[in-house]
Amino acid sequence: MKWEIVCLDEIDSTNRWMKEHGSGDMVVVADYQTAGRGCGTNRWESQRGRNLLFSLLLHPKDIDVRHQFRISEVVSVALCDTLEEYATGFSIKWPNDIYWHDSKICGMLTENRVVGQSLTESIVGIGLNVNQQEFLSDAPNPVSLCQIVGHGVDRTTLLQSFLHRLESLWSVEGVGDTYRRRLYRRGMECIYEDVEGRFPATLTQVEPDGRLVLTMSDGKERRYAFKEVSFII
Ligand code: BTN
Repeated sequence: MKWEIVCLDEIDSTNRWMKEHGSGDMVVVADYQTAGRGCGTNRWESQRGRNLLFSLLLHPKDIDVRHQFRISEVVSVALCDTLEEYATGFSIKWPNDIYWHDSKICGMLTENRVVGQSLTESIVGIGLNVNQQEFLSDAPNPVSLCQIVGHGVDRTTLLQSFLHRLESLWSVEGVGDTYRRRLYRRGMECIYEDVEGRFPATLTQVEPDGRLVLTMSDGKERRYAFKEVSFII
C-alpha cells in the first residue's frame, strides 16, 4: 500500500476533511482540530501539536457489509502492536478504544460507505494521546504515551510504525483471534450498565458482526451493539 500523506496545521476535523477531499489510499494528519469529533455527540479534545490526530481512507476489497467489523479488529490490533513497542499494559476496550490499564490512550471513529451488500470505503479517524501532559476536558480517564514512558515520543515515527503494521496485518489470518485475546476485561467479572441499570457480568466473546457478548453468573448471555452497554470503570 502506498499511502498519500497530507499534513495540515489546523482543520475542523480530519474525518470531515477526508469525506470532502479523500481519494486513493490517503492519510490526513492534523496538528490541531477545531471541531474534533468523538463517538456519538462527544468532542475529541487534543492540545495543539502534541498528539496524533489522523484519518485513513481505506478501500477494503470484498468486504461484505456483515463483516465490516474486521476493519475495527485490524486497526485496533495494529495500534496495540505499535504501542507495545514502547511499553506493556495495552488492551482493546470493545469496540475499538485502546486502553493502558484503566486509562484511555486512543479513540477511533469509523465511518463506512456501503453500496448494496459491500463496504466500498471506510474513513477511520484516530486520536492517539502522545505528548500531552495535562488533560483539561471532562474525558474521564485519559492518559498519553509520554505519561506512560516518562519522556516525549516522536509522532512521525509512531505514525510510520502504525501504518507499516496496518499494511502487514490486512492479509493475516487470525487477526480476529488476536483482537479477542487482547480485549480489556476479557474473562473477568465486572460491572456493566445497560438501559435497565447496572449488573455484574463477564465479557466472554465478541461476535463476528462486532456485538459484545456478556455472560451473567447464571450462565445466561446478553448481546449488545455499540452504545447499548457501557463499562463501569
Ligand atoms: C472516541 O470518541 O473515542 C473517538 C475519537 C476519535 C477522534 C479522532 S481525532 C482524528 C479524527 N477526526 C475526528 O474528528 N475524530 C477522529
